[in-house]
Amino acid sequence: MNRRRRIYEGKAKILYEGPEPGTLVQHFKDDATAFNAKKKDVIEGKGVLNNRISEHIFNNLNAIGVPTHFIRRLNMREQLIREVEIIPLEVVVRNVAAGSLSQRLGLDEGTQLPRSIIEFYYKNDELNDPMVSEEHITAFGWAAPQEIDDIMSLAIRINDFLTGLFLGCGIRLIDFKIEFGRLYENDMLRIVLADEISPDSCRLWDIGSDEKLDKDRFRRDMGGLVEAYTEVARRLGIMSENEPLPARGPVLVK
Ligand code: TMP
Repeated sequence: MNRRRRIYEGKAKILYEGPEPGTLVQHFKDDATAFNAKKKDVIEGKGVLNNRISEHIFNNLNAIGVPTHFIRRLNMREQLIREVEIIPLEVVVRNVAAGSLSQRLGLDEGTQLPRSIIEFYYKNDELNDPMVSEEHITAFGWAAPQEIDDIMSLAIRINDFLTGLFLGCGIRLIDFKIEFGRLYENDMLRIVLADEISPDSCRLWDIGSDEKLDKDRFRRDMGGLVEAYTEVARRLGIMSENEPLPARGPVLVK
């Protein structure tokens, strides 16, 4: 089906050569992985939902002046993006204790943090994405001090915006992971938000019930992932109340 040149294949997405120089096509797969791909499954409909949710968030961020790689959505599974040089860091912003922070520091999941906390992880599957500090980042040249400053101020703006966006539809933004890239534009180098923001990369809890509306449903074998992501899309106003769940493919009638 795809005769375009494949530039890179990750766990949940594929990047293809774009229609013009300096562009790429980002394709969202249905593959779900956790714990550095030790746990794997295919969840039909996940890619379509993440494409739509990420499009909505990136459009909103572009509109408030947060520079991103996103240009426009092309179809159900693909979006056109600007080609950037990915900075090899996973930037995690936390508002509430959960996941690895709860484990590391013995905090109950759901404990409000005294303030938002930014953490950096070195993107390296072989090493299991170890947590690193600014010292490691600058000493090993993964990013320059000025770039770290830009990343941190963008991360705070993104967190403020996303917290409000989700609060407005009854969702508590617990934490999320973002990635940044370098964009070369007429001899200028800018840090821009890249990758995706979706329930795969965020922890999202329903405000009333604390029900999880994110990838922890897969990580923790809770089931109902597509239903939860669909609920996020509906609350964000992306999908209408009665729009069916993404196509499940042919169903065998017994
Ligand atoms: P953590 O609590 O497991 O460190 O995860 C923090 C946030 O980052 C959470 O919203 C899930 C997200 N995340 C990813 O998007 N990719 C990853 O590989 C990991 C470990 C976490």
